[in-house]
Amino acid sequence: MKQDALVQATAHHVEQLFSGEGSGHDWFHIKRVWQNAITIGQAENADLFIVQLGALLHDIADWKFHNGDEEAGPRAATVWLSSHGTPTPVIKQVCQIIKEVSYKGAGVATNPSSLEGRVVQDADRLDAIGAIGIARAFAYGGFKNREMYNPTQPPEVHATFEAYQKNQSATLNHFYEKLFLLKDRFTTATGRQLAEQRHVYMQEFVKEFLQEWHGAEDVPVAFVV
Ligand code: ADP
Ligand code: NI
Repeated sequence: MKQDALVQATAHHVEQLFSGEGSGHDWFHIKRVWQNAITIGQAENADLFIVQLGALLHDIADWKFHNGDEEAGPRAATVWLSSHGTPTPVIKQVCQIIKEVSYKGAGVATNPSSLEGRVVQDADRLDAIGAIGIARAFAYGGFKNREMYNPTQPPEVHATFEAYQKNQSATLNHFYEKLFLLKDRFTTATGRQLAEQRHVYMQEFVKEFLQEWHGAEDVPVAFVV
């Protein structure tokens, strides 16, 4: 199969699988990541074939929805790609991207090993911050029956992936435990630049949220932005 045809077929496959998903990991998330990845990948001179397959397949079987199984994504991607006669080295590169894309906690280093992986990770992270990031965080929190905010539960710094995975706290904590930290963890110059405005917007939102919540009282120290 020609490269373009495989990218289109993969997009179609993923659209079928993810349409209407309600936790912020729907097809439109994948589509935005795909588009961001092309923009960043072009500016960074990455291999756009690998970048596009990685972006389209990055959440195909996310551990968050597969009982923490980190191999589910690479497995599902391999089944799909090999059924279309994709060369093994391409499958390997794409699987490596899927394994390395996710955030795993404040104290866990997650720098992808390839340029293409860094492009996909930055594209995915752009969609986790800004106005869309705010909406996705609360959509995910609702999906998991989480409180929006609980002033008595301070955010935590997760030293391990296990601690991060087990976390069940209120959605506002996710801003301190991941979303505000992403700004310094973009690994391409293009991604970092695109992140700036979204980061500031998200900080303004949280400040306003806490101001409305606490009124004349002080905001708990752990939540001061
Ligand atoms: P990653 O692979 O880095 O986790 P994803 O594309 O799978 O990235 O999506 C992560 C998004 O899911 C977060 O940016 C956020 O919107 C949502 N999410 C994940 N965990 C939480 C949480 N504990 N509270 C709120 N939102 C969450
Ligand atoms: Ni994603």
